[in-house]
Amino acid sequence: MTWEREQTQTAAVSETAAVFVGRVRLRSQDQRSLDAKASIAGHENEGENTMTNWMELEQKYYFHIINRMPLVIVRGQDSRVWDEDGKQYLDFVAGWAVLTLGHCSPIVVEALKEQAEKLILCSNQFYNIPQLELVQMLVENSCLDKAFLSNSGAEANEGAIKLARKYGKVHLNGAYEVITTLKSFHGRTLAMVAATGKPAYQESFKPLPAGFINVEYNNIEALKTATTDRTCAIMLEPVQGEGGVNVPDLDYLKQVRAWCDERGILLIFDEVQTGVGRLGTLWGYQQFGVEPDIMTVAKGLGSGVPIGAFLGKEKTAVFTPGDHGSTYGGNALMSAVGKAVLSHVLEKDIPGHVAKIGAYMTSKLEELNAKDPRIIEVRGRGLLQAIEFDREMSDAVVRNCLSKGLLLNAVKPTAIRFMPPLTIGEAEVDEAIAILSRALDETTVEAPEAQTGP
Ligand SMILES: Cc1ncc(COP(=O)(O)O)c(C=O)c1O
Repeated sequence: MTWEREQTQTAAVSETAAVFVGRVRLRSQDQRSLDAKASIAGHENEGENTMTNWMELEQKYYFHIINRMPLVIVRGQDSRVWDEDGKQYLDFVAGWAVLTLGHCSPIVVEALKEQAEKLILCSNQFYNIPQLELVQMLVENSCLDKAFLSNSGAEANEGAIKLARKYGKVHLNGAYEVITTLKSFHGRTLAMVAATGKPAYQESFKPLPAGFINVEYNNIEALKTATTDRTCAIMLEPVQGEGGVNVPDLDYLKQVRAWCDERGILLIFDEVQTGVGRLGTLWGYQQFGVEPDIMTVAKGLGSGVPIGAFLGKEKTAVFTPGDHGSTYGGNALMSAVGKAVLSHVLEKDIPGHVAKIGAYMTSKLEELNAKDPRIIEVRGRGLLQAIEFDREMSDAVVRNCLSKGLLLNAVKPTAIRFMPPLTIGEAEVDEAIAILSRALDETTVEAPEAQTGP
């Protein structure tokens, strides 16, 4: 090792430590608030509530964009995470359906280490091998013919919409409108807020980019009514994730496909959450026997590192140089991880495992359903499932589970979502169900008032 390299590594280690511990770094920033320093100093005193300090820090410096759960996660392995006090939690949130292979999977860590030593990034003006190997693997294992790599789901969706609009310009007399569905989720960029059919996410940011129409999900007539000569595409999640794990009727997506064919418009599937095995097939569209013209993926492809992609059939290849790009999209480091994750998913038939373990989880959730009259539905596919209550109790149950060592997501006031790593086994499902069952027994929330009339 050269001296220079040795020095760089030492410096890198101490910088990481400073950022990680937080207090070291902030101590040197004298101008920063003394209050924050005092609260961070408290972290050093044994017996003090360390959690409060990090929460105060967040409140002070982070934009308030989410009401976080009271848990500071410092370590993760497989399907488990640990807090600062060494308490262990079983993670059925998995970074919001991201951690395909679990926390700090050796597959991911090794790919990162190996590629980081070789090449992290080069400008997309040049070729890099992991990028090309990954798109080859994506295309050869899907119904699509071309791909572009991005950094996130929202960015992949933005690219897909641009592709559809260019297709509209070239082939559909300038048609530009995209029909999406209510209760969908497509990301947080401005255009994806317009695409996402949740008025509450849209209100504060108007005027939104034009050209998006949100209609009811699982309603073919609503799509047909909204289609005009201005329509270039319909964009849907094969199963809505953030909307509450909503599985459409079996023939809905087939009808949408037929309608797109009849009108000559494109069908885009947002598989950011459903892709890479989560539903028990490599891609969600395989569950429904319907092929999209364009598909987007992200989350599970990197199993924890930021990567996304949009893919399209040959006929959608209408971009010409200058139409699209990304500085980091398809960088060698993330592409190498994506390739390692996808190879592992294919080699080990992770989707086949998900189908089996997902069915097992459904059977266990159905047992809870039979026992607890407040549960009114178990739904989902593979390892994307939800239980629906007859009352607003999901937050109370999720907090109760947290205190007992299980992480779950209250996807709606009346529903809990289960999206563990795809590598879990029956033992983890049994453990989660046992904790959930105890939490349910202990949670009392008033039933909704009976409806007395129209
Ligand atoms: C279906 C779907 N599309 C898009 C996104 C946005 O992805 P990202 O947060 O990576 O931008 C999400 C995120 O939850 C999603 O579930």
